[in-house]
Amino acid sequence: MALRFMSAEEAADFIKHDDVVGFSGFTPAGSVKAIPVAIGEKAKAEHAKGNPFKIGVITGASTGDSLDGSLARAEAVKFRTPYQSNNDLRNLINAGKADYFDTHLSVVGQHIRYGFLGKINWGIIEACDVTEQGEIVLTTGVGISPTICMYADKLLIELNSFHPKALRGMHDLIVVADPPNRREIPIYKPSDRAGKEIIKVDPSKIAGVVLTNQADEVGGFAGTDEVTDRIGLNVAEFLSAELKSGRIPASFLPLQSGVGNIANAVMSALGNHKGIPDFEMYTEVIQDSVIDLMMKERIRFASGCSLTVSPGQLKQIYENLDFFHKRIVLRPQEISNSPEVARRIGIISINTALEADLFGNVNSTNVMGRKMMNGIGGSGDFTRNAYISIFTCPSVAKGGKISAFVPMVSHTDHSEHSVQVIITEQGVADLRSKSPKAKMEAIIENCAHPDYREALRDYAHLAGDTHTPCTLSAAFGMHLEFEKSGDMRNVNWGDCFKK
Ligand code: COA
Repeated sequence: MALRFMSAEEAADFIKHDDVVGFSGFTPAGSVKAIPVAIGEKAKAEHAKGNPFKIGVITGASTGDSLDGSLARAEAVKFRTPYQSNNDLRNLINAGKADYFDTHLSVVGQHIRYGFLGKINWGIIEACDVTEQGEIVLTTGVGISPTICMYADKLLIELNSFHPKALRGMHDLIVVADPPNRREIPIYKPSDRAGKEIIKVDPSKIAGVVLTNQADEVGGFAGTDEVTDRIGLNVAEFLSAELKSGRIPASFLPLQSGVGNIANAVMSALGNHKGIPDFEMYTEVIQDSVIDLMMKERIRFASGCSLTVSPGQLKQIYENLDFFHKRIVLRPQEISNSPEVARRIGIISINTALEADLFGNVNSTNVMGRKMMNGIGGSGDFTRNAYISIFTCPSVAKGGKISAFVPMVSHTDHSEHSVQVIITEQGVADLRSKSPKAKMEAIIENCAHPDYREALRDYAHLAGDTHTPCTLSAAFGMHLEFEKSGDMRNVNWGDCFKK
């Protein structure tokens, strides 16, 4: 069946108010770029005529500005799930103008199949190749594309010639059967393959193909600084000591590393540390630092869901595709983040916290308990199932006015039962096999910033001698102080502990 080529505007014309659209990509990698801009313009035109126009947006994770930014600025988002990191969309969500539900990335595909997200009217997928037989080769991000292609009523393809067709073979695409027929995922080491290189659909499902030539909208990373370098070194020294103690096998274990500036800096530090042997990754996002370390042959293999690298790095990959084909595999997030696989192969997870409390509960998503930052992403998929789960963060934020360690987190993403180790530029709190009181001491003395240690010790003392020392009237005292004076260092426990 001949493919129907069309403009982005013609493609956008298919999308109607209230439609639910599943998009390809994972981070800006593999995210569509032309059609969502055209949908945003269509929404603005409909709004100008006084007509409603909003769509449900389901993606793999965050996307590029052309998708989340364009739709947010057009106020065209009815609901959005899962992870996002676009400033305009974040503002729309925090203003209550778009419904957002944050969920573990590993479950999005199955929730579509189970029907939890309702009917998917359209799938819009970026490809580096598509044939009249309905064969689709994805680009730099896989996300939920295989499930979207199965479950969307109709598909629109952005055929992006920026990405070479020779990417074929880097993907390993599998959609698992649903209960009660699910079997094990046959991945026993990061380089194992369990699926196909391409997605195959009924060609009559493809309503149109839009030609593009656009780079992924991946921003650069902030350079490392004294604090992130120190965090990285502390992580490397902790893992090197675990290796020496025999708690990590001599061959090392696959690493999962989170997103953002801190995660990028931690990876570089691990690569540069002599006590860490060459290693493999079983992760979600393959960032710049992973490619650097792969070229130095420090990282032997990386399994991920996306190649989220800066344009310069991607150029290098495309110029050396033979080298990288042997070292990278991109999988659907249901597989890259699979709890089953993570537990089996024994990953070491390293993710970032916004704040943690004195027992090790971690908040990665909601500033002051109510302002959505990005979302939980895959951090829960990995943390809960890791061999060793680590959280990193600077001990303070906003020039020292906010302590990353508070008596009680204002929102919980990862509970103290899953968080094993916390590492800041100050040091390492190893929480494994510790009681709540012992965790408090380890966190205050090893991870908290010296400016806050006295206040946190006072809280721990005043909160009493119970199993889990906690005084509800004071537990949010530091947050309330920040809201009052703009600086948690001014906290005065006296008032909070008065009966
Ligand atoms: N209260 C308020 N703001 C805080 C804060 C706190 N306790 N801690 C950090 N921040 C702010 C920082 O000041 C910074 O603000 P800015 O952008 O205005 O400068 C911002 O949060 C980001 O912090 P930064 O230190 O630059 O870290 P990062 O880029 O590494 O991002 C997370 C940190 C937590 C936002 C990010 O890792 C994330 O979204 N994690 C959740 C998802 C996840 O872990 N995915 C990976 C799974 S594979």
